[in-house]
Amino acid sequence: MTIFEKTYTHTTNSRKHIGSNGRKPQNISVDDCLNSKSTKTYLLKSLLIDKYDLSDSIERLKITSILTDSLQSMETKLKKRKIEQIQAHNNCISMEPPKFIPIKINNPCGNVKIKDVDDDDVFNPCNCDPNQPDPCGPKSSCLNRVLMFECDPELCPAGDKCNNQQFKKQLYPTLTPFLTRNRGWGLKTLDIIKKGTFIIEYVGDLLDREEFNKRMEAIIKERNENHYFFHISNSRIIDAGSRGNLSRFMNHSCDPNCEAYKWVIKGETRVGIFALHDISVGTELVFDYNFQNVKGVTKMPCQCGADKCSKFIGV
Ligand SMILES: C[S@@+](CC[C@H](N)C(=O)[O-])C[C@H]1O[C@@H](n2cnc3c(N)ncnc32)[C@H](O)[C@@H]1O
Ligand SMILES: [Zn+2]
Ligand SMILES: [Zn+2]
Ligand SMILES: [Zn+2]
Repeated sequence: MTIFEKTYTHTTNSRKHIGSNGRKPQNISVDDCLNSKSTKTYLLKSLLIDKYDLSDSIERLKITSILTDSLQSMETKLKKRKIEQIQAHNNCISMEPPKFIPIKINNPCGNVKIKDVDDDDVFNPCNCDPNQPDPCGPKSSCLNRVLMFECDPELCPAGDKCNNQQFKKQLYPTLTPFLTRNRGWGLKTLDIIKKGTFIIEYVGDLLDREEFNKRMEAIIKERNENHYFFHISNSRIIDAGSRGNLSRFMNHSCDPNCEAYKWVIKGETRVGIFALHDISVGTELVFDYNFQNVKGVTKMPCQCGADKCSKFIGV
C-alpha cells in the first residue's frame, strides 16, 4: 500500500472523490477550497505526497497538523477578503448617505412664528459671577440654565466666560452617519461623549400646522416610511426631511442614550439632543421619539432591539 492510500484509509468520501487512478481534479476554485471538505483534504494530502516522504507516521501527523493550520488561516483570510469585496461592491452601489441640504439653524417656512416666548420671560439676565468657576455652566446655579434658557451673550453678566451658549456656539462632537442593519441610516459618535453633553441641535424647516399637514399628506400618499418631523408644539414643527444637519439620521430607541430637550434661545424654542449617560466611541446615538402616532397612519414597528422595546415607535 502506498503512503497515499494509507493516508486515506479513514476518509472514505475523499477516497471516492479522488478515484482509484489517484489523479488530481483540475481547476480547483477558491470556493471549492472554502466549501468542500473533501477537496481541502485532498489538497492537503496531495501536498504531503508531492513534497515529503511520509513513511514516518509521526512526521506525517506533524505535517498534517501544520498544513491544516495554515489552510485554516488561509480560509479565514479568504473569507475576510470575500466579505470586504462584497462590502466594497455595495459601497459602490449605495453606501452614500441620502442627500439633504445642510443648514445650521432652523429655516422658517410660510407663516410660522419664529419667536414663541414672551419678551418678558426672555430678557432676564442671570446673576452669575464671571469669577466663579464654570460661570453659567452645568455645575453653576445659573437661573437661565435651570429654566432651560440660553444666556444672551449681550446681557449675561458672565460675559465671554458664560458657559450657557451651547446652541449659539455649536461645538458638536464628531458624528458620522452609517447604514444600520434594519433601520436605514443611523448616526454614531466618533468621540467619547460625557453624560449631559449637548450633542447637536435638531434643525430643519420650521413649519406651522398647515404646512405640516400638507407635507404629512404627501408622505402618506408616497408611502414614505422615513419621517423627520419633530413637534415642538402644536403650531411649530421641525421637518429635517430635505433640510437639516446630521441629527436627521438619529433613530428612535425605547432604551435611548440621548434625549431631546426644548431650550429657549432669544425667545425661540429650539431642540437640543443631550447625552443621557457616558457614550463610548462608535456607539449609535438614539433618542425616544415620544412620537404621537398620526390618526389613520399605520403604526411603525420598532426595530430598536432593546429588551424593553415597546414593539412600535411611539404611542
Ligand atoms: C429621523 S429618521 C432617522 C434616519 C433614517 N433611519 C434614515 O435612514 O434616514 C426617522 C425614520 O427612521 C426609521 N426609524 C428610526 N428609528 C427606528 C426604529 N427604532 N425602528 C424602525 N425604524 C426606525 C423610521 O423609518 C423613521 O421614520
Ligand atoms: Zn448664568
Ligand atoms: Zn450666562
Ligand atoms: Zn423599540
